[in-house]
Amino acid sequence: MPAPSRVSSAIEIENLSLTQGGHPVLDGITLSITEPRIGIIGRNGSGKTSLLRVLAGLQRPDQGSVRVDGVDVLNDRAGAIRTLGVVFQNPDHQIIFPTVEEEIAFGLTQLGSDRPAARARTREILARHGLSDWSERSTQALSQGQRQYLCLLAVVAMDPSLILLDEPFTALDLLTRTQLYRSLFKLAPRLVMVTHDTQVLEGFDRVIWLDEGRVREDGPAPAILESFTAEMMRLAEGRSCWH
Ligand SMILES: Nc1ncnc2c1ncn2[C@@H]1O[C@H](COP(=O)(O)OP(=O)(O)OP(=O)(O)O)[C@@H](O)[C@H]1O
Ligand SMILES: [Mg+2]
Repeated sequence: MPAPSRVSSAIEIENLSLTQGGHPVLDGITLSITEPRIGIIGRNGSGKTSLLRVLAGLQRPDQGSVRVDGVDVLNDRAGAIRTLGVVFQNPDHQIIFPTVEEEIAFGLTQLGSDRPAARARTREILARHGLSDWSERSTQALSQGQRQYLCLLAVVAMDPSLILLDEPFTALDLLTRTQLYRSLFKLAPRLVMVTHDTQVLEGFDRVIWLDEGRVREDGPAPAILESFTAEMMRLAEGRSCWH
């Protein structure tokens, strides 16, 4: 049988539902995504992280399917590792190796490189980013922002066609954050980013607003951000923070 062609450069999400602790967390989400830069917004607890975890193949939904460039990420772990990379909010939960070189090289060995090849490629990547002197550095001795940058480099090194980010740079100062976003846009071919930072989403191609596990609005960034901000202001007028 011929290999399935990977004609579509798309994320296809079909009727995704997930229950956690007896409560619906994702509720019948269907999306077809072809744009390069997608933002996901929504209130705390609206299901953003859960959706990203399902998209990354890290969380099995109760029903539904996810295909990224034709790869069934929920059932094809090797395909998922080849196709997408994830950067979470807290680099301390992501970094597992004592040195920068080991951290980056690990992902490459996951893709099938032997250790010398992975090491050589890691050095090449660090050199390309002007960070050759990071190679032997202790990951614990890096600052928070440097660790977040390392997580991004480790993902980029694997050359995924899609990068998923869950509020990756919120703890950073404005300069570091701006620099990281700039590198991200240069480094990532396509990305889906969860963030509460509506300003950074202004230049995105599409924004999806999640509300109680459902897509509440979906469209061009300016319109969705305006509508979301207006609704948050409206809620703030009449309610306490949580209800
Ligand atoms: N492992 C779990 N067990 C039980 N409930 C869970 C679990 N994970 C998530 N939930 C619930 O699912 C809902 C969505 O959580 P999720 O982390 O996806 O929200 P979020 O939109 O990322 O929120 P935030 O903006 O605070 O990061 C929340 O009500 C949360 O309590
Ligand atoms: Mg979250």
